Amino acid sequence: MFKILVSDPISDNGLQQFSAANDVEVTKLTGLNEEELIAIIHEYDALLVRSQTKVTPRIMEAGVRLKVIGRAGVGVDNIDLEAATSYGIIVINAPDGNTITTSEHTFAMMLSLARNIPQAYRKTIAGLWDRKTFIGVELNNKTLAVLGLGRIGLEVAKRATAFGMKIMGYDPYFSEEQAKAAGIQLATIDEIVQQADFITVHTPLTNDTRHLISEQQFAIMKKGMRMINCARGGIIDEQALLVALDEGIVAGAAFDVFEHEPPEADHPFLKHPNIIVTPHLGASTLEAQENVAIDVAEQIIHILHNQPFKNA
Ligand code: NAD
Ligand code: MLT
Repeated sequence: MFKILVSDPISDNGLQQFSAANDVEVTKLTGLNEEELIAIIHEYDALLVRSQTKVTPRIMEAGVRLKVIGRAGVGVDNIDLEAATSYGIIVINAPDGNTITTSEHTFAMMLSLARNIPQAYRKTIAGLWDRKTFIGVELNNKTLAVLGLGRIGLEVAKRATAFGMKIMGYDPYFSEEQAKAAGIQLATIDEIVQQADFITVHTPLTNDTRHLISEQQFAIMKKGMRMINCARGGIIDEQALLVALDEGIVAGAAFDVFEHEPPEADHPFLKHPNIIVTPHLGASTLEAQENVAIDVAEQIIHILHNQPFKNA
């Protein structure tokens, strides 16, 4: 019998995949801390996580039977990949299943930001009928810069085009031909920050993308622009953004992700009148959670049975 530990909330419909294999036993134990995981991981052949579980080298060292760690989602920054390689543990993700959902969330955030919807909602339900404070801006004819032209970035660009926006893009791995076909004008970060009305980031968090937008970029940024981060906390420098908001360089920001999650209760973003936030909900739809759970469960079964598997 192969034993699989599911340590984050994962769609039950996706986990149904495991019942097709009659030699697999699934245990769901969520909310464990590192020590609790270390105490039990030696029993399991596979670990299935979303983003809450941080899979550290100590957990892998204790996981003497661990053959595979599956990430039901795209980002694998919560798994220590170097340690996984050194312990011979395969890490797989589900790169496609939440692309549309996350691009739709990004768009919801951009529209909410442009029209002050969360702020207006709060005031209206408090009994105040304020039609003066919340004058928004149109997306039509505005320039949207997409940093990271991968699966999600390109879906966001498509939707923005339908809204009449001009799209600029930055991605060192994206060619002029691809950009032309997608109707995107490639530019440098400096050109982008000087021209864009909205900037949305869709890169992974790496040493190259950490604080991709920071003091240096805010210093030359178009005044009154708005920015969205539905990718990973840390791509936009949170402290530098707060200064730029206070100086009126940035008019508003929408963040689904934070440098430390969950943020402390006194995190300044949670109280700032021009920042709107969601709790890392980018991939949280029924469809996406089912998709990623099915994808990753199928791959785990293949790996446990030494069959060929696909990965990003
Ligand atoms: P992807 O791999 O398809 O696209 C990432 C793009 O970033 C690639 O085109 C790559 O070339 C580009 N890139 C890499 N380094 C770069 C750099 N230094 N500068 C500019 N571009 C760079 O990934 P995706 O599926 O589009 O997802 C993007 C990220 O979104 C994921 O890594 C994940 O962290 C995040 N994500 C968040 C949520 C959420 O719930 N908020 C959901 C899904 C994905
Ligand atoms: C991802 O990288 O896929 C996202 O963080 C989505 C998630 O699992 O919450």
